[in-house]
Amino acid sequence: MEKLQAIRGMNDILPENSLSWQYLESAFQRVIKRFGYQEIRFPVLEHTQLFKRSIGEVTDIVEKEMYSFDDRNGDNLSLRPEGTAGCVRAADQHGLLYNQQQRFWYQGPMFRHERPQKGRYRQFHQFGVEAFGMPGPDIDAEVLQIAAMLWQELDLSDFLTLELNNIGSAEDRANFGSALTEFLQSKEDQLDEDARNRMHTNPMRVLDSKNPDVQAALIDVPLLEDFVSAESKQHYAELQDLLNSASIDFIENPRLVRGLDYYNNCVFEWTTDTLGAQGAVCGGGRYDGLVAQLGGRDVLACGFAIGVERLILMLDSLGKIPQDALQPIDIYVTCIGQNVTKQTLDLAQAIRESQPQLGVISHCGGGKFNSQLKRAFNSGAKIAVILERDGDGESTLETAKIRRLDDSAETASHKIAVIPQKVAEFLEKSES
Ligand code: HAM
Repeated sequence: MEKLQAIRGMNDILPENSLSWQYLESAFQRVIKRFGYQEIRFPVLEHTQLFKRSIGEVTDIVEKEMYSFDDRNGDNLSLRPEGTAGCVRAADQHGLLYNQQQRFWYQGPMFRHERPQKGRYRQFHQFGVEAFGMPGPDIDAEVLQIAAMLWQELDLSDFLTLELNNIGSAEDRANFGSALTEFLQSKEDQLDEDARNRMHTNPMRVLDSKNPDVQAALIDVPLLEDFVSAESKQHYAELQDLLNSASIDFIENPRLVRGLDYYNNCVFEWTTDTLGAQGAVCGGGRYDGLVAQLGGRDVLACGFAIGVERLILMLDSLGKIPQDALQPIDIYVTCIGQNVTKQTLDLAQAIRESQPQLGVISHCGGGKFNSQLKRAFNSGAKIAVILERDGDGESTLETAKIRRLDDSAETASHKIAVIPQKVAEFLEKSES
């Protein structure tokens, strides 16, 4: 029978790779804890309407990339393509946004039906942070400090650039949108069908048109920067000041627009040139209107999300994952002799109890000593503990020795009782 394969663009993370994932997850959790953020978990499935109303009907994500279906009750649901919408929905539904400041983080899988390539998948993972109830720019600077500290922790700072842009307040954007629609109407006969359709629904998307005829019609198009209010400019200038004093380098990129409609004021991306085409590793910004847009109160907000696969690719290709983090276990306990099952399990357990920081595999399944040793090598352990059992009944002699698996150096035989202590000493000596 033909074997079934995983869905294209959805990856299995096998044990050899999951150690890199664990390394990254623990670095993120360590950093986020230092900033006092709290974890929030919300479902991977939501009503499709939630994403339409937040990300925007006329965006690539909603128009082309969502996994949507009717469930058995006829409700139209979608796999979450990002975390912000679900986070806002959950926090507001449970009354966490009313008159409060909140700092949340989340991690988990997201789903977008994009064309898979290196760094772009249909199921991918994000670490995200969302902060509510603060006008900024201090909180904007704080979320950027989180990302910057994570890059430092991972030794990636030299390979990432922070790009910033000010896209204006919600009101500025509405004014700009109306001016743009008016302008596009005056050029209607030079636009293609796509641009004519978008002219009323999302005129800003017309600016990204790949059609040279449409681009030619845009020569004297109104510029967003002419609509950005003094207040928004001041917010942006203050953020830049805070970043300078926090020693976070950035460049301004006036062409930085985000593919989701909920943003206002400052938006940002951390990009790298180590990944080829998919260079955005982290994206975010302010989204002050979203909570109200989804039916909540006026709650100011900002946040970002990091693409976990892209960070893993960076860490792997730059050799930034410490060898220690990639060590699956420390000790493999083998045995020579007959009827040793109980003693092997007991010895492995004694080591675990006495040295709880170590990972210990106890050989199972019997077999000749040489084949046990081969398994010890293949397990990735640093050392083997070799239990030696001689004789039977009351006069049984039980000793064990410790062997380093990379160069076969080994200790003399010791009584079983002292092995847990000897193991710790031997590992310590090997490492120093
Ligand atoms: P986003 O820019 O769409 O923003 O995604 C954030 C990050 O997720 C990207 O920078 C990228 O690293 C990663 N990513 C996106 N799509 C894919 C994909 N198909 N395959 C692999 N990685 C991908 C958001 O999702 C916003 N919710 C961020 C945010 C939070 N804004 C405010 N709060």
